[in-house]
Amino acid sequence: MKKIILTGDRPTGRLHVGHYVGSLKRRVELQNSGEFDDIYIMIADAQALTDNADNPDKVRENIIEVALDYLSCGLDPAKSTLFIQSYVQELTELTFYYSNLVTVSRLQRNPTVKSEIQMRNFEASIPVGFFTYPISQAADITAFKATTVPVGEDQLPMLEQTREIVRKFNQTYGDTLVEPEILLPDNEACLRLPGIDGKAKMSKSLGNCIYLAEDEKDVQKKVMSMYTDPNHIRVQDPGQVEGNTVFTYLDAFCKDEYFAEYLPDYANLDELKEHYRRGGLGDVKVKRFLNAVLNEELSPIRARRKEYEKDIAYVYDVLKAGSEKARAVAAQTLEEVKASMRINYFDDEELIKKHIQKYQK
Ligand code: TRP
Repeated sequence: MKKIILTGDRPTGRLHVGHYVGSLKRRVELQNSGEFDDIYIMIADAQALTDNADNPDKVRENIIEVALDYLSCGLDPAKSTLFIQSYVQELTELTFYYSNLVTVSRLQRNPTVKSEIQMRNFEASIPVGFFTYPISQAADITAFKATTVPVGEDQLPMLEQTREIVRKFNQTYGDTLVEPEILLPDNEACLRLPGIDGKAKMSKSLGNCIYLAEDEKDVQKKVMSMYTDPNHIRVQDPGQVEGNTVFTYLDAFCKDEYFAEYLPDYANLDELKEHYRRGGLGDVKVKRFLNAVLNEELSPIRARRKEYEKDIAYVYDVLKAGSEKARAVAAQTLEEVKASMRINYFDDEELIKKHIQKYQK
């Protein structure tokens, strides 16, 4: 069986370092591993509209931002198909058919949808499109016969829902769709990178993100203002590493080689943590180190972004070509789906013959 990746992001803002360690970095590694036959990276504008119906300009403005972030992280249009969800009309058609296989109560139990509804104060007025976006996500994944979906932990319920839809579809209409596997980050810190305030998740509305496109100075300011251990007041006090945002970020980003370059008194992160716990290591020193690490990780991304920013027309061409390619693939799957569902009347000569006979006298 072919190995196929599909994943994507909602274009509601620029991508941040949480996206990077949670999924983007992995995608680039998978892309360059050469292990996959096809890779599809989708800008989920239609999904973004499910809770931004009144603000299409926000989505419109952020498609190019997300595309620039993708390219600057190292996604390569020669190896990965970058495309725009709404351009692939077949996805909405698949969603319509799959929605017959999902119950309202099953959707109500989806933990991600539940918490998003709370976050947006939608309780009394949930748009139907938003409520059913897990079904449309199943369409996104299955249209490309994806075997592997690299995403953050919050997407687990979507993948479970997709797998259920696939099983139900195949059971009802015969083997047609492929059941995908989720691929989560293997590092705890990458799984759930907190905002700079130590809050559960980075989010634009909380203003606690570090964006991939942010310049060195702004990143430094944010790092220096990061939440640490509130009880670590004087340098000599013992400090706590768990729940200390600066150390969580180091867990996510640090490599041993950065110590040799920026903090040669320590061989690795374990030694640094040990000193912090013991006392005698100040927050500022650790923050400076984190800033250097982030700068090492982000500066190649910034540099590539600068290059792509010079040729926005090219980026739009990439998206257009990718969307056309994606559409052809999804159209093929839709044909198969309709054949399995026995709603491909005009392609079915047997059906027509049978009905001719039925009425022949
Ligand atoms: N829900 C995803 C997010 O919020 C975006 C997305 C839409 C997606 N369709 C997908 C991710 C299919 C993986 C597979 O980031």
